[in-house]
Amino acid sequence: MPDNTRRARDESFWRTFADRYDVQPGPINLENGYFGRMSRTVVEEYQRNIELINRSNSVYVRQRFEASDGLKIRAQVAELIDVPAEAVALTRNASDGLQSLIRNYNRLQPGEQVLICDLEYDTVKGAMRWLARHRGVEVIEIEHRHPASFDSLLTTYRDAFERYPRLRLMALTHVTHRTGLVMPVQAIAAAAREHGVDVILDGAHALGQLEFDLEELGIAFAAYNLHKWVGAPLTLGFLYIAPERLSDIDPDMGEMHFPITDIRARTPYSTPNIPALLTLPLVLEEHWAMGGAAAKGMRLNYLRNLWVRAAHELPGIDVLTPDDPRLYCGITSMRFAAHNDQQLMVEQLLNDYNLFTVMRSGAACGPCIRITPGLTTTAADMAQLITALTELS
Ligand SMILES: Cc1ncc(COP(=O)(O)O)c(C=O)c1O
Repeated sequence: MPDNTRRARDESFWRTFADRYDVQPGPINLENGYFGRMSRTVVEEYQRNIELINRSNSVYVRQRFEASDGLKIRAQVAELIDVPAEAVALTRNASDGLQSLIRNYNRLQPGEQVLICDLEYDTVKGAMRWLARHRGVEVIEIEHRHPASFDSLLTTYRDAFERYPRLRLMALTHVTHRTGLVMPVQAIAAAAREHGVDVILDGAHALGQLEFDLEELGIAFAAYNLHKWVGAPLTLGFLYIAPERLSDIDPDMGEMHFPITDIRARTPYSTPNIPALLTLPLVLEEHWAMGGAAAKGMRLNYLRNLWVRAAHELPGIDVLTPDDPRLYCGITSMRFAAHNDQQLMVEQLLNDYNLFTVMRSGAACGPCIRITPGLTTTAADMAQLITALTELS
């Protein structure tokens, strides 16, 4: 058994790991998809960096951060996804990166089409609809079949590519925040390429829990945050543009602080959260020390499978992600089949079972309850969820 597989089920290892995090007493948090926790050492380092920047102010920032330390940090971020530093521009979060890529993509002609599906993040949907108003393109909105399979997802896209020959650009979400479905990115991007469609990948939930190689996936444009599964302070993200495609994304709104050949011109020039950025080296050191996305993803999948296997035996529970290991990760949504109001069930899970979850709507398959274990979640927490589902179903 490979190390990560054995470690994923080793509760005593994860208890020791969890001891490095401060957790407020209260409900069992099964809504770790919003953002991740920082370890105690990261919090302390962040506090030190806030004090440092407050004391040294622009003297440190202008003399050292801009010319040297900030560049080293960007290079470390690029190493996370194994791309050159010059292919990465730091942003405040995934949304900023995605919006920059969408609004500055310069290959659209009026009358052409762009594609989104029901599972995209609302900010991405909004940005693509904005393109319609400002570039004179048409937005094609498709829905995925439920239950989804590798083939159904690919077929839905292939059908859209055939049906809408004026498609030039599409959004694709690596891990959807609605149901946790993991998209077969490589196969979809290959089909898109055959039809001359560019892909902007929303990687917000992928980084830190999935292993991937953007070149292998065939992705030229992507955006990420570092505050979900990497464990960084809030307000950190980045966008990626394959160097040979840089000229397809314009500088952001006439941005001129960097030359046109510099990816940093693709984001608004602004004062970043420097203390948070300075904390990144320690965040990344801890991320790698614990095995990176491979180890984190394996643990999250293990916890997910504990409750999902039990839920499959319960007649009143629909699990919304398939069991094909290519299509799921730690986040998975479900619904109580006999209940119309899933929000009421979220409240019941909290009030009667001390379980904190979140309702998600917007997927064509209907409203659901998203269950997201985190790295401090235990097998006992999952047992509590199984008890709740068994009694409520
Ligand atoms: C799929 C997806 N895309 C984009 C985002 C936006 O990420 P951020 O909050 O870093 O802007 C989120 C946040 O939850 C998300 O789940």
